Amino acid sequence: MKILTPITALLMMVGSIAPIRAEEETPLAKQMEATSDAMKALAKETDPVKGAALARESQDSVIKGMALVPAMIEKMPAGAEKAKAIADYRKMMSQAAAIFCDIEIAFIDKKLDEVAKLVTDAKALKKKGHEKYIEEE
Ligand code: HEM
Repeated sequence: MKILTPITALLMMVGSIAPIRAEEETPLAKQMEATSDAMKALAKETDPVKGAALARESQDSVIKGMALVPAMIEKMPAGAEKAKAIADYRKMMSQAAAIFCDIEIAFIDKKLDEVAKLVTDAKALKKKGHEKYIEEE
């Protein structure tokens, strides 16, 4: 039994660290990670059916993320500025959803050069959204 004690202690430490990490990620960050994974995969995809499916995955996570509010906006005091920021955030996310719909259409049409162009547009929108709505640490 004695030999198991340090192992048990180690397992308890690992078990206590894992939930702390999970709590750090906001539900929005989780959807953003899913969008990022799908976008990276579709950028490398040459099969139209697989590419279209990945484009739909990215649309789904963007739409789920649109229903959430960035941590930075959440902290703003209630009022017109906050309401405008939420509407603007949703507008940008709907633009992202539209780009991923265009990517799906481009895959269906087997236009891979068009996919590459649209991925560049999505990355530019991501940069703009992050500059606006992620707080600098
Ligand atoms: C279009 C492609 C996009 C991708 C692939 C993407 C990806 C990501 C990733 C990987 C994170 C980090 C998650 C983490 O904390 O580990 C993140 C966070 C975040 N992104 Fe995006 N993003 C995109 C578009 C946007 C747009 C358009 C906006 C704003 C209109 C936006 C707003 C945010 C915010 C606010 C966070 C921080 C999470 C929070 O506040 O809870 N993103 N994104």
